[in-house]
Amino acid sequence: MKELEIIIRPEKLEDVKKVLDEANCGGMTVATIMGCGAQKGIVDEDVVRVIKGYKTTINLLPKIKIEAVVPDESVEDIILKIQEKCSSDHVGDGKIFIHNIEEAIRIRTGERGDKAL
Ligand SMILES: Nc1ncnc2c1ncn2[C@@H]1O[C@H](COP(=O)(O)OP(=O)(O)OP(=O)(O)O)[C@@H](O)[C@H]1O
Ligand SMILES: [Mg+2]
Repeated sequence: MKELEIIIRPEKLEDVKKVLDEANCGGMTVATIMGCGAQKGIVDEDVVRVIKGYKTTINLLPKIKIEAVVPDESVEDIILKIQEKCSSDHVGDGKIFIHNIEEAIRIRTGERGDKAL
């Protein structure tokens, strides 16, 4: 099992929910977060080029984080579909971090592993 930690632009939430639903994802946890990546939260790409290398303060931008634990075999398909839906020509499209999940347990039934997802 893998946990996909998917950080996206807020307006892409519905698209990613649909991708996960179509992949028969058992569940997801969603949070609104603040974050920044390589551009330290600066949105104007011309400005980024000008100030690169100079000291700037970090600006945090609103993003959505989705956590979904899925079977190993679903991972690559989900990544491809998220890329299809969420990649643009602009910085800030987001990232997917992948974590190994050791075990999952459905509390109600005691099922474990993929059966618990
Ligand atoms: N190294 C990181 N560690 C933790 N969170 C990160 C990291 N990089 C990006 N994020 C999260 O992902 C969000 C989107 O990052 P973003 O897409 O801007 O990454 P980037 O590396 O700057 O790529 P790009 O150049 O395409 O913008 C950030 O706001 C932050 O929440
Ligand atoms: Mg960025």
